[in-house]
Amino acid sequence: MTVRKRPREEGWCSGPAVRPGRSAAVPGPVPPVAAAVRETRVPGTFRVWDDALMTAATPPAQSPTDRRVSARIGSISESATLAVDAKAKALKAAGRPVIGFGAGEPDFPTPDYIVEAAVEACRNPKFHRYTPAGGLPELKAAIAAKTLRDSGYEIDASQVLVTNGGKQAIYEAFAAILDPGDEVIVPAPYWTTYPESIRLAGGVPVDVVADETTGYRVSVEQLEAARTPNTKVLLFVSPSNPTGAVYTRAQVEEIGRWAAEHGLWVLTDEIYEHLVYGDAEFSSLPVVVPELRDKCIVVNGVAKTYAMTGWRVGWIIGPKDVVKAATNLQSHATSNVSNVAQMAALAAVSGDLTAVEEMKVAFDRRRRTVVRMLNEIEGVLCPEPEGAFYAYPSVKALLGKEIRGKRPATSVELAALILDEAEVAVVPGEAFGTPGYLRLSYALGDEDLVEGVSRIQKLLAEAKA
Ligand SMILES: Cc1ncc(COP(=O)(O)O)c(C=O)c1O
Repeated sequence: MTVRKRPREEGWCSGPAVRPGRSAAVPGPVPPVAAAVRETRVPGTFRVWDDALMTAATPPAQSPTDRRVSARIGSISESATLAVDAKAKALKAAGRPVIGFGAGEPDFPTPDYIVEAAVEACRNPKFHRYTPAGGLPELKAAIAAKTLRDSGYEIDASQVLVTNGGKQAIYEAFAAILDPGDEVIVPAPYWTTYPESIRLAGGVPVDVVADETTGYRVSVEQLEAARTPNTKVLLFVSPSNPTGAVYTRAQVEEIGRWAAEHGLWVLTDEIYEHLVYGDAEFSSLPVVVPELRDKCIVVNGVAKTYAMTGWRVGWIIGPKDVVKAATNLQSHATSNVSNVAQMAALAAVSGDLTAVEEMKVAFDRRRRTVVRMLNEIEGVLCPEPEGAFYAYPSVKALLGKEIRGKRPATSVELAALILDEAEVAVVPGEAFGTPGYLRLSYALGDEDLVEGVSRIQKLLAEAKA
């Protein structure tokens, strides 16, 4: 069982551990939370910059005018998954036959009826103007209706905030409920954006690591071991990015009851709710454990269900006071989401689920192929993902072995070797808080998928002690 309280791991694609002009020691008194965080630090593992995040009251060493980028923003790593995708696309544009397993987005176009709704909205001058910051009333009502239809959760439209994608929803939700030093339990492997959003809000992510032996699902015992008097929130996501793990209803219930018993808040990310395969079933936490509702924030969006990643529409569902606070924040940060995109989202959530059912058939087929082919490689172990569109194999047994004259010691190095030698882009587990793994998104065409994994098979077959 592993619990890690870590302000920031040295990112695989991030900058130096100690930034120029900044000493490792932060001057001035250290509030108790920062001190506690430091105690748990493994030398060389974390960036010193995090102390600045934790100690807003502490005067920095340099004068304000010498500091160019703020400590808070300078500490953010580039999104690792977007970085891999960008690198793969750049290599492709340069003429290399790269196959990308990096992107977390369906390879299907947005369904026509949704695009048509957007075209119509473009032509309506009403939508050329500002609209309410928290979302179009008709979209909020449709999201409430969709939530009842899909998860059996009855909410009022006033409990909805329409955001620029699920990412903004997560950022605003944490910003609305966290005070400096509040701890958020984050099951790892985790999606890269969670810890960054938590830190930006002044919170402290506390990882609870699950591995392939439990299908990447954490237990209540692990969560309880991570709970402290500073714990405010449990982050929960099922189906999961990056592992594809889906918790059973009984597990969801057990975790929800534990959170309710300790008065914890829960942020539950339901963005992959419709992408479950085989016997797996999606269960919504506030439906399974209704006593959580007053402290439960649901994050969702149209990106994955309707192949609408570029449209940027997501939402928060939560208690009215929190939704109001997050709406106030959004009113100053970005105002309303593009009306055209909101009208497209309205068509999406008001329509049926035919499009996602069709995508699911393709994803399920690719899922079985990719898992089978990965498990054929000696040294690779890939549990069967039951949801989303990711496979998360362990490659620990391959690390340190010689492959084409190199000895990759980490999954970062192995991913780099795979890109250089096989021209296949995968995301190393370091990006998700668990070195020793790779993430492959199987939301790409069947032919590319088989060709890409065949190339990986061929390369890794060369591994020798
Ligand atoms: C688990 C999870 N939640 C939320 C999102 C946010 O999606 P978007 O901001 O595109 O709506 C993603 C995107 O990859 C995701 O994987």
